[in-house]
Amino acid sequence: MAADSETPVDGRSFAAAQSFVLGTKLFWTREMFPALRADFDRKAEAKGVSPETPEEVAGLIGDTTLYRYFAWLERHLQRFKYSGRYGIHPYHAQDRAALEARLDPATLPDGLLELDPDLDLPKYFTRVDIHQHPGGIWSDDIAGYVYERGARTTTPLSGMKHRDLHDRLVEAVEERGGAPGRLLDMGCGFGKSTEPFAERFRDSEVIGVDIAAPCLKLAARNAADGQRRNLRYLQRDAAKTGLEAESVDCVTSTMLLHEMPPKAIGAAFDEARRVLKPGGRMVHLDFWTLPDAFARFIHYGHSRRNNEPYMPPWAEMDVAAVLEEKGFTDIEVTPFEESDGALDPANRAWRFPWTLISAVRAG
Ligand SMILES: C[S@@+](CC[C@H](N)C(=O)[O-])C[C@H]1O[C@@H](n2cnc3c(N)ncnc32)[C@H](O)[C@@H]1O
Repeated sequence: MAADSETPVDGRSFAAAQSFVLGTKLFWTREMFPALRADFDRKAEAKGVSPETPEEVAGLIGDTTLYRYFAWLERHLQRFKYSGRYGIHPYHAQDRAALEARLDPATLPDGLLELDPDLDLPKYFTRVDIHQHPGGIWSDDIAGYVYERGARTTTPLSGMKHRDLHDRLVEAVEERGGAPGRLLDMGCGFGKSTEPFAERFRDSEVIGVDIAAPCLKLAARNAADGQRRNLRYLQRDAAKTGLEAESVDCVTSTMLLHEMPPKAIGAAFDEARRVLKPGGRMVHLDFWTLPDAFARFIHYGHSRRNNEPYMPPWAEMDVAAVLEEKGFTDIEVTPFEESDGALDPANRAWRFPWTLISAVRAG
């Protein structure tokens, strides 16, 4: 029987379509990106120029067929991943009733999840469908599931090792003496960044805050299924967590800051300082270090194509100066190796500019 648009998409067809998207994204990552860089280097050398701004890079390669394919694929593979007949969103919507039943807060242990239906969601957050996720990650109850499935291929090169990135952050926190009594993970999403802390620091109280209720519901569901007892999730803005002043030993975030406009980032840093005990450490993992104009051209293009408009102002923020001004010391801003060999100069493949930002609350 021929499938029509009314026929539900079966698991195999969905998996095949998603695997096509991932395979093409890997080609984009490993083949197209290095070819683009080589083309840029060749053109710059031929013209005897060293571009210093993204606009100058655009002047050299912005109109080439290679760049246009590169940009088109980045935009449309992501769209195909989430939307259309084989997209993650419609596929999960087929099972809406069952998924929503799993997320019912009444089925969770007391105290694990605290939602705030009156929370004012910031406009910067609701105004765009971030990551091209239809409706964003906040407007639909099943958005947590959709985001969880989508996140498996956010960094295509590490593939299923993506989780590894979060474990590496736990190690980095620990290496910097952040074995905490109480840890706050800002922008915890569906708990992917929070769970590894709860797993590693079993005697700590780990608190994840986020503004997106659908993600928090899934985070709490997963924590309940995994019998986690040292973890809880609160629907709060990173700028206003409601936690007591000087009550937290360590504040973390993963992939939060680049999603916020500079004012909101400043407010989150202020809140981190307020809740941290004197001497407490804050560690953020985000995209920040852009070594040259070509890297900025690519990253700012990604920002437009993936609906993440605040990447450029964040990358241009003098983060060390801001942290110092806000009362932090022992400030470290350093490239972060998200998977083995990622920072090796021989690695020519596309990657996010992962950066670790660590600072201590001055007394
Ligand atoms: C890219 S996700 C990262 C999620 C998670 N940390 C991880 O590593 O998978 C960014 C998260 O930040 C959240 N977020 C954005 N603005 C926020 C704010 N002002 N306060 C708290 N969370 C926020 C979003 O809802 C989203 O879940």
